[in-house]
This record gives sequence, structure tokens and C-alpha cells, in this order.
Amino acid sequence: MAFKFHYVVVLVLLNSIKYGISQDIDLTKGASFIFGDSLVDAGNNNYMQTLSKADTPPNGIDFQASGGNPTGRFTNGRTIGDIVGEELGEPGYALPFLAPNTTGKAILYGVNYASGGGGILNATGGIFVNRLSMDIQVDYFNITRKEIDKLLGASQARDYLHKNSIFSITVGSNDFLNNYLLPVISMGARIKQSPDAFVDDMINHLRGQLTRLYQLDARKFIVGNVGPIGCIPYQKTINQLSENECVSLPNKLALQYNAKLKDLLQELNENLGGATFVLANVYDLVMELITNYAKYGFTTASTACCGNGGQYAGIIPCSPTSSLCSERDKHVFWDPYHPSEAANVIIAKQLMDGDDRYISPMNLRHLRDL
Ligand SMILES: *[C@@H]1O[C@H](CO)[C@@H](O)[C@H](O)[C@H]1NC(C)=O
Ligand SMILES: *[C@@H]1O[C@H](CO)[C@@H](O)[C@H](O)[C@H]1NC(C)=O
Ligand SMILES: *[C@@H]1O[C@H](CO)[C@@H](O)[C@H](O)[C@H]1NC(C)=O
Repeated sequence: MAFKFHYVVVLVLLNSIKYGISQDIDLTKGASFIFGDSLVDAGNNNYMQTLSKADTPPNGIDFQASGGNPTGRFTNGRTIGDIVGEELGEPGYALPFLAPNTTGKAILYGVNYASGGGGILNATGGIFVNRLSMDIQVDYFNITRKEIDKLLGASQARDYLHKNSIFSITVGSNDFLNNYLLPVISMGARIKQSPDAFVDDMINHLRGQLTRLYQLDARKFIVGNVGPIGCIPYQKTINQLSENECVSLPNKLALQYNAKLKDLLQELNENLGGATFVLANVYDLVMELITNYAKYGFTTASTACCGNGGQYAGIIPCSPTSSLCSERDKHVFWDPYHPSEAANVIIAKQLMDGDDRYISPMNLRHLRDL
């Protein structure tokens, strides 16, 4: 009798481990694992002592899921990662790794490791005191990876990661803006390293980080290049440029990095069996929005909607005391650094369904369906 009872209990337990989870979580809808910087941070920095935070209004004012309250996203609404997740048909936004409730089955909907101020290189973003750089974000995914094994079992976990999971990496801007280009702090680095050597350093580190993700069973990658960082309101303000100008050095560095990133992804596509690396041409996409902003329904691509200082409200980050524009969807830039939700929607749509001007060798819809 006792034997039978135990047998039944064990059987029920085994079955709930085997089937229970897949019953209430639809694994076919897939997940996003999101890495990068403030362009895609969904709240990790809220859980750190850092100077890089977006936890005060009016950040998040148009984010419906929080009722317009700030979530730690550095924009007025959804990030590109959020919108792409919706378009891919995922059931919820990838949760910030550091949030206390990002545990248990919730991680199967995807996890977000991105952190404002973070970069490819460890030293990047040091002026913010704390931020998660890419090495640490991959370490954190290694923790998630083990949890997924526990939830699904080794073989289903591997399958889920290989077929149903998209790994997006949006990083690199801070390695320039908050490292190489910083006056004083980076003087040493800039004297020691030519732009070429610095960019090579970034590419070599990124190769290591992407390879580690591959070793942890990532197969479907989308990697964004660096946008036209010489055209953001911050750069235009401090360099006192006119409406249609951009600062050339930051853009030149971005293009130098982007050329080598393209080669890197081609190399990884050839060398890492079964993996697909898709390049998101954020530079050309954002440049198109900035150049032809009126065509997309914007009234300005130079002035931040939320910010203060100088001609383009581009010096002081968005905070409760900032001036706020009246029509948020008419600005390409939400704040001195980050695009508005309206711009993010256009960018995400191109990544999802665009052609090889902006996303290659295939768009995200095809990557998902591989
Ligand atoms: C986790 O907590 C955040 C903030 O309290 C909340 O917005 C979110 O919906 C929660 N997520 C889950 C899966 O419970
Ligand atoms: C960066 O930091 C991580 C985590 O602390 C460490 O494992 C890694 O070796 C560091 N990389 C370099 C190049 O210093
Ligand atoms: C993941 O963590 C384990 C230790 O728990 C370590 O042995 C392994 O090298 C890590 N993998 C990667 C790719 O970092």
C-alpha cells in the first residue's frame, strides 16, 4: 500500500515536471533574450546604484503596460526590443534579469540583461559608477541557462533555445560616447590607442561574447550596429551645430566599427555551425529617419522632446524638471540620447519585415521561422 502510494506521488511529480510547464506556457510562441545598453534596458538599472537611470517621470509616460509610470526604460514608451517581441508574437515583454520576480517559469518568456551605460568593453560607462557590461550580461545568461535546464529538462531546453529563442544584441554606442570619446577620463586610452586599434579591441571582445552565447545554445542572433551617434541632440548641442549638421568624428568611428562588425558576423555565420547572425543596420535606418524626418510624420529630428540645455534641449537628461514637448510622436528623439517610441516603432517594423538595406541576410520574420 505504502509502496503504491509513493509510486503514484512520484508518477504525478514526474508528469508535472514533464508536461506541467508546457501546458500553461506556450513554448511555441518563443522568447527574446535581450542584451545591450540603454536603447533596450527594460529596468535593470533600477536595481543598481548607478547614475544611469530612467526611473522618474516623464520617462515611460506612453508605456501602456505600466499605465504611463516609469519602468527604467530610457524612452517615453516601448523600446525596440519590446516592439519586436510583440511583432514576433511573444506573449510578454522580456523581464529585466535583476527584477526580483524574474524567476521560475516567467523566464521562459525571455529575459532582458541590457543596462544603461553598458558597453562591449568592461571600462565603458565607468562614469555612471555601475552598469552591466556585456561580459557580465553573458555571465547572467549563463545563470538563466541553468534555470531553463531545470524547468524544461536538458533536451527540451536546448531545443527551445535553438529554435524558439531570438538573441538580440544592441551595444557599442557607449564604447564611443562614454569611453573613447570622453574628454579627460579616456585621454589615456585615446593616446594609447588609435581609432583602429580601439575598434579592433571592441570587435575582439564582441567575438568572444557572441561565441560564449553560442556555447550556451544561442543560435538565432540579431546584432545591431552603432547608430549615427554624431547626430544625437547631445552631440549637436554641445558642438553648437545647425539643424542639418552632425558631428563627424563620432559618426566616423561608428562607421569604422560597423564595417568590421559586418565582417565579424559573416565570419561567425561561416564558423559557428547551425547559427544565424543577422545584422541590423541601425545606422542607415536612423540616418534615414533623421534626414527625411518629415516623410515619416516627424516635425524635428534635432530637438529632444524631454531634456534641457542649449538649442536642442540636449545637455541635461530627461527628468521631472525637464521641459517636455507637446507632441511626443513628432520628435525622432525622446531625450538627448534616445529615440522616441514613435521612432522605435518605425525601426522595429523595418527589422521585422524590411529588406537587406536595413536587415541582412534575412529579416526577423524569416529568422524566427527558420
Ligand atoms: C514583475 O514586477 C514588475 C514591477 O513590479 C511588474 O511590472 C511585472 O508585471 C511583474 N512581472 C511578473 C511576471 O509578475
Ligand atoms: C571584464 O569583467 C568580467 C567580469 O568581472 C571578467 O570576467 C572579464 O575577464 C573582464 N574582461 C577584461 C578584458 O578585463
Ligand atoms: C557557465 O558557467 C559554468 C559554471 O557554472 C562555467 O563552467 C562555464 O564555462 C560557463 N559558460 C560560459 C560560456 O561562460
